[in-house]
Amino acid sequence: MAGLFQPLSLRKVALAHRIIIPPMCQYRAANGLANDWHLAHYGRLAMGGAAMVILEATAIDPGGRISHGDLGLWQDDQIAPLRRVTEFLASLGTVPAIQLNHAGRKASCRRPWHGFTPLDDEDRTQRGEAPWPVVAPSGLAASEAHPPPQPLSEAAIGELVTAWAAAARRALAAGFQAVEIHAAHGYLLHQFLSPLSNRRNDGYGGDHRGRMRMVLEVARAVRAVWPDDKPVLVRVSAVDGIEGGLTLDDTVALAHELKALGVDAIHCSSGGLLGSATAARLPRRPGFQVPFAQRVRADVGIATIAVGLILTPEQAAEIVATGQADLVAIGREALVDPNWPLRARHRLEPERGFADWPVESGWWLDRRDVGKRESA
Ligand SMILES: Cc1cc2nc3c(=O)[nH]c(=O)nc-3n(C[C@H](O)[C@H](O)[C@H](O)COP(=O)(O)O)c2cc1C
Repeated sequence: MAGLFQPLSLRKVALAHRIIIPPMCQYRAANGLANDWHLAHYGRLAMGGAAMVILEATAIDPGGRISHGDLGLWQDDQIAPLRRVTEFLASLGTVPAIQLNHAGRKASCRRPWHGFTPLDDEDRTQRGEAPWPVVAPSGLAASEAHPPPQPLSEAAIGELVTAWAAAARRALAAGFQAVEIHAAHGYLLHQFLSPLSNRRNDGYGGDHRGRMRMVLEVARAVRAVWPDDKPVLVRVSAVDGIEGGLTLDDTVALAHELKALGVDAIHCSSGGLLGSATAARLPRRPGFQVPFAQRVRADVGIATIAVGLILTPEQAAEIVATGQADLVAIGREALVDPNWPLRARHRLEPERGFADWPVESGWWLDRRDVGKRESA
């Protein structure tokens, strides 16, 4: 059985251990461009010892931004500022990864702390942030507060698949070693997958096969431009958690197809189609989404990432040791303490002292502990 601090290779990309940082939007970009905030924030998470940091949902098309603050990779000038981030992460031994997204009917929204609700003319006058028209598989709005989306034509779907591949190519040029396709949390690809948001009766809808088609086309297109020695990840909402929505059986079927296309790992989240942006309407207790990662891993034989209320090093170690997932993603706990991965190892393997820490702090902390022991 694998240990939390055992290395793992996805294709030829080596992760030093099993603790990673999941994508977390910062809403701090302007025109999709990364800036010093992103360098400092992601850099700090890498300094905290994460094996891989997955940068936030990054738009493949300006119309696919959740908000005006999203990162983007829809044009070439967005590559260089991200390259600063990837170079710093790689210099610290952290694998730089990025999540690529189109928000579909949940695009054109306010930042969470401004309500997460759709932009309107008030935002244009107050903050200079104009709303834009949104698209989706069908004309069903995300909620009563959201405007009805424009259903995508087959030609427009094809253009977005091409945009996904172009964004992946830019991600490679920016130095990312792994790419994650966002098919969760009620954004465009999830909208295609779920029968609750996809009412199409052409080849992109109908039964589950039709509803999977867009995600599979995106995975195929991204895999085709992404080097053979580097991994492609897909994040899913393993269940909708809503009557008539996606089930875990649907997700297992999808994971089989993704594996056949050369996808290397499934990142198992849940929900977001209606209501909460980032988790299903399930009882939220520690590790509540881990069983999804466990089932996909066992049934499909593909690597999985467990995420969601993984709070303690002991919990993380057990998930990996019992084969429920290959990697554990630590989100909000790492916002509380960016040193979470380093502190987890220090707690579980105290005999190592601060050997794993950056020497700039580890050297001092080892001596601090000698001092403590001597004065005890
Ligand atoms: C500030 C913040 C931003 C987030 N942004 C994203 C995102 O860009 N893409 C995504 O798939 N999930 C996003 N999430 C969800 C997280 O990746 C993660 O699944 C969730 O926080 C549960 O894990 P945790 O309990 O360890 O925080 C975000 C969560 C937070 C707290």
